[in-house]
Amino acid sequence: MLNFRHFRPATASLLAAVLGLGAAIVSVSAPRAAAQAPAQAAAPRPMVPMTAASILRDPATHIGLNVSMMAAVETILTKTAFVVDQDKAKAAEPLLVLAPSLIAAPEPNTYVTVQGEVLKFDPAEIAKRAKGYTLDLSADQIAKFTGKPVVLATAVITPGLTDLAKKPIRPMTPDEVTFSGYMKAINTALPAVRAGLEKPDPAELKGHVAALKQAFTDVETFLKTKGPADAVKFASDSLAQATAMESALASGKLEEIKAPAGVIQGLCAQCHKPFREQMEDGTYRIRGSVR
Ligand code: HEC
Repeated sequence: MLNFRHFRPATASLLAAVLGLGAAIVSVSAPRAAAQAPAQAAAPRPMVPMTAASILRDPATHIGLNVSMMAAVETILTKTAFVVDQDKAKAAEPLLVLAPSLIAAPEPNTYVTVQGEVLKFDPAEIAKRAKGYTLDLSADQIAKFTGKPVVLATAVITPGLTDLAKKPIRPMTPDEVTFSGYMKAINTALPAVRAGLEKPDPAELKGHVAALKQAFTDVETFLKTKGPADAVKFASDSLAQATAMESALASGKLEEIKAPAGVIQGLCAQCHKPFREQMEDGTYRIRGSVR
């Protein structure tokens, strides 16, 4: 068995290249990095190949680095935490890995590729960096690792190239399929109304406005009965604008459709920001509790 303990980072990268691991790792992680990019404030930093031994030997110079590290799984601590060692000999001090989105524990005594940022372990720092994650280490474990380096992992890749930290994409519920239909109708009707205002054809406009109003009526009813309740006001406001468009049309004042069309356009984003969630495959879900 290869002993990685004495490899320096440059050697590790060479080793990864020789083994063809570099390419495999990049292909596994690249689409996710792209999907996550908008949520991160800072530009993604390059990922550097690293050994667990290098990080443990000199934590200070590795803090803040985005690393890709092949290491042997030593012990599973919790559902989202485990420690790795440079190799299966377990001679050295183990390195803590926290993987908030871990869906299955890696096999002890197998080599995994862990990708993520090296931090100095501190529960407050973890809470800040991994929003929505509840640290599940015991008080003793927290005390033991505080101040030590930790890899806050976004990928834990098995020898079979399965990423154990990749959240499965939740399928749409039947209600969400219905709701998505309303949104698609809205997404067709509003541009049609706006285009129709360029070369007004009252009969055609009437059809598009009616479709828009119907879809927002459906959205409002859905949200009122199933939630999220906080989203109702955006639907009601949109519906009021669609009703104003309808009245303008009924009294032949086509010019008066423009203003509500603009207001509705603004409401799309106001509601999407808190209540629309995009999955890694690009599809959308309702964010918040739906009964
Ligand atoms: C009341 C809140 C709300 C308003 C207002 C709203 N949306 Fe949505 N929209 C959502 C939610 C929640 C989702 C995610 C669930 C879904 O896709 O069905 C969504 C999803 C979408 C989708 C993706 C549909 C899919 O599933 O592929 C489109 C397109 C869309 N909205 C367009 C619009 C446009 C255009 C407007 C404004 C004219 C608008 N929405 C106004 C809540 C809203």
